Amino acid sequence: MTSQLQSFSLADRVALVTGGNSGIGRSMALALSGAGAKVVVMARRAEPLQETVRLIEAQGGQAAALVADLSDVTQLDQLVEQAGLPFGSPDILVNAAGLNLRQPVDEITSDSWDQTLSINLKTPFFLARALVPAMQNKGWGRVINIASLQSERAFANSLPYGASKGGVAQMTRAMAETWSAQGINCNAIAPGFFPTELTAAVFEDKARTQKLADQTAIGRNGRLTDLDGPLLFLASPASDYITGQVLFVDGGFTAK
Ligand SMILES: NC(=O)c1ccc[n+]([C@@H]2O[C@H](COP(=O)([O-])OP(=O)(O)OC[C@H]3O[C@@H](n4cnc5c(N)ncnc54)[C@H](OP(=O)(O)O)[C@@H]3O)[C@@H](O)[C@H]2O)c1
Repeated sequence: MTSQLQSFSLADRVALVTGGNSGIGRSMALALSGAGAKVVVMARRAEPLQETVRLIEAQGGQAAALVADLSDVTQLDQLVEQAGLPFGSPDILVNAAGLNLRQPVDEITSDSWDQTLSINLKTPFFLARALVPAMQNKGWGRVINIASLQSERAFANSLPYGASKGGVAQMTRAMAETWSAQGINCNAIAPGFFPTELTAAVFEDKARTQKLADQTAIGRNGRLTDLDGPLLFLASPASDYITGQVLFVDGGFTAK
């Protein structure tokens, strides 16, 4: 292996992945583990969290599960302490927990707006800020947010979601401005359409799924493993001089 390839290694790193019991979060937890990181996964449902731990252990990695409702930001400092117990303080944060309630505009309430903005935008900031001091002590860290096509494009019945994801893109730049000089690079991955619980309703509609695939340059929707390479690049020393960027992993959807 050349020295450049070694810089993709995550050996001796600890990663914290929110939403690590499902979809993109689980897939990213497995990819980080495959590159050598010890992984803590956090979300509300315990059984699928344990399943992620089992899957990681089955591929020879180390993982721990932390059951938590991350929408209550007053709990985050305490959760960050707990997250550091199994393997030490996390060097890499992947903010993959999120939701899209897909409400028509007339049905959006103050509560549903807050619910979406909270988990998609507010929690990623407060969680990152709680983890940053330990990263600063080590002089190295990574914050990876999950943006969306809706960071740049409007889709029907998703106004609060789009607002939150537009916010994630700008927050990523602001995080980079704040923390990068201390070795903590902050970037976002903006996935195209990937089959998960969040997009199940979209993928059930075959005509709509095909239309979305046709809107990409590559001609298909995403497979979860399509995210592995971009994730490992942004999580590893390979991206030491990249910060404040939103990397679209969308098959060219936003290029057309
Ligand atoms: N799938 C796509 O095509 C796509 C495209 C662009 C962006 N994204 C983004 O990718 C991220 C992951 O979504 P996904 O597609 O993988 O959907 P998913 O399978 O539904 O995963 C959502 C995750 O968020 C967790 N979560 C939700 N509310 C939470 C809370 N209050 N506290 C803790 N965890 C919470 C869920 O776990 P619990 O329910 O157990 O808490 C689950 O693990 C989201 O930010 C989403 O916006 C997805």
